[in-house]
Amino acid sequence: MTVYDRIGQGYATTRRSDPRIAAQVASALSGMASVANIGAGAGSYEPAATIVAVEPSSVMIQQRPAEAAPAVRGVAESLPLGDGSVDAALAILTVHHWTDVEAGIAELRRVARRRIAILTWDQAVFGEFWLVRDYLPAAAAVSAGHAVPIPRLVDLLPGARVEPVPVPHDCTDGFGAAYWRRPEAYLDPRVRSGTSMLAQADPRELADGLGSLAGDLASGAWHERHRALSVLDRLDAGYRLIVSSC
Ligand SMILES: C[S@@+](CC[C@H](N)C(=O)[O-])C[C@H]1O[C@@H](n2cnc3c(N)ncnc32)[C@H](O)[C@@H]1O
Repeated sequence: MTVYDRIGQGYATTRRSDPRIAAQVASALSGMASVANIGAGAGSYEPAATIVAVEPSSVMIQQRPAEAAPAVRGVAESLPLGDGSVDAALAILTVHHWTDVEAGIAELRRVARRRIAILTWDQAVFGEFWLVRDYLPAAAAVSAGHAVPIPRLVDLLPGARVEPVPVPHDCTDGFGAAYWRRPEAYLDPRVRSGTSMLAQADPRELADGLGSLAGDLASGAWHERHRALSVLDRLDAGYRLIVSSC
């Protein structure tokens, strides 16, 4: 059983492609006639040109829409795809789960003829996000333990560019910092179940931090401290799109 066989139930409900982030991903893959989505999950951000999805969790595969590209079970470190078999390989919020990042990136480079796009996060920026910095150091530790340093990925993809991916204030994809301007959402267990950082944090420490957040929301302290956020429509919480031409 994979991690996402355990925590992935309901993923398709809490994690839906955000159209603004999808546009940025689509732009990175413009002109690509065939795409393989690796660590594809339920199919978020798959462009129409996607011809195959690779995903280890059957629970995630079961949540793919009927019209989505066919999915095969497999892992990035050993892709069941031929050399140069697609124009582009896509990997959205998945590299931090791979057991061997070097092997996984080598596999992306083997199968993609023209482009590789990877969405991940810069922990130095994400670690300053108010939720993890002020309330959930346990979740921050999970996140820091998983994070793949951006320079390490760029080393493996020479010449790659790194684009910030700002998070809209009403982001529809419930990843870690999606609710930066909607703090009450983090008190909802369904919201938390959609992000591995929160689903895997120590339950006691999580309860303590969320108790503090609930208190600060009730007293108005959170809103007082974060008044500046209320006028922002997007936030750089550290998410980065790495785009490499082969
Ligand atoms: C946070 S989900 C992201 C899913 C999808 N890309 C999205 O953006 O909604 C991470 C995914 O990576 C998958 N995963 C975990 N280990 C993997 C590996 N070694 N190779 C490929 N995918 C993996 C998980 O099963 C899960 O579906």
